Amino acid sequence: MSRRRVFVTRIIPENGLELLRAQCEVDLWEDALPPPRDELLRHAAPCSGLLTMLSDPIDGDLMAACPDLRVVSNYAVGTDNIDRETARERGIAVGNTPGVLTDATADLAVTLLLAAARCVPSAGHNATSGAWKTWEPCGHIGRDLVGQTLGIVGMGRIGYAVARRLARGFDMQVLYHARRDHEEAERVLGARRVSFGELLEQSDFVSVHTPLTAETSGMFDAAAFQRMRPGAVFVNTARGGVVVQSDLVQALREGSIFAAGLDVTDPEPPAADDPLLHLPNVVLLPHIGSATVGTRGRMAEIAAENVLAGLGGRPLPYAVT
Ligand code: GLV
Ligand code: GLV
Repeated sequence: MSRRRVFVTRIIPENGLELLRAQCEVDLWEDALPPPRDELLRHAAPCSGLLTMLSDPIDGDLMAACPDLRVVSNYAVGTDNIDRETARERGIAVGNTPGVLTDATADLAVTLLLAAARCVPSAGHNATSGAWKTWEPCGHIGRDLVGQTLGIVGMGRIGYAVARRLARGFDMQVLYHARRDHEEAERVLGARRVSFGELLEQSDFVSVHTPLTAETSGMFDAAAFQRMRPGAVFVNTARGGVVVQSDLVQALREGSIFAAGLDVTDPEPPAADDPLLHLPNVVLLPHIGSATVGTRGRMAEIAAENVLAGLGGRPLPYAVT
């Protein structure tokens, strides 16, 4: 029997590739940049499985061009790059890598929050650029953390992991906005569920952990930033699309919020002339939330296991519902 063909759209950790190679014909895209659309279509067309990155748009046209496709396994927890409804209609299973990246992503959200609160980019530039002349009694003044209010938007696994770190480590009060109650956060951390507006008005730090959906797209717009506290710090490790980026730039320029820590933008990377790249009160990272050795290794394994289950007609270990 001929082995099933799988297109892997980037080089992922070797353990995942080994699992696939043992049972499938693997077509691996080895460039550092994602396959352009025509290459993606050409490589995907003869495949039964795709192992994809969040930077690969997997839409209805692509699925229609792949008659044998059984499974799309995203090497990510978010699946907003995949047209899940069309996949469902076509009986194509969709998998992701939840859970294993929760701690790494929460650690990075806290890193960004601290760096933005303490002016790390501008102070660091001062230190390395030759501008550092003396100890400054009133320079590089950041925000206090202990006892402040943290607003978590989207209280899933990652949101809760961030809340735990900051409530326990920095004695922060936790507010959250979510579709349902998070009983454990309320019981263990004393977190309180509030409306989006109330969260914006009462939080000193706002950290986003929602998936990108029709409801969350652009939810952080000019009106939202205007409702935030003047000294607020905004952190986004979720998806750039939840923010109207030009409105965020405006809020940061005017000083209507204090700073932002961003691991995600829209688009990624930002355009070369995007003002976000030059604001002193922005900490910007290239979408590295899950980028630790242990996490990426586990993600590769899970993504491969999802592919193999899908090819075998079995339920995926981590199916996106
Ligand atoms: C990263 O953003 C992911 O969704 O895993
Ligand atoms: C992802 O793991 C989430 O649900 O927050």
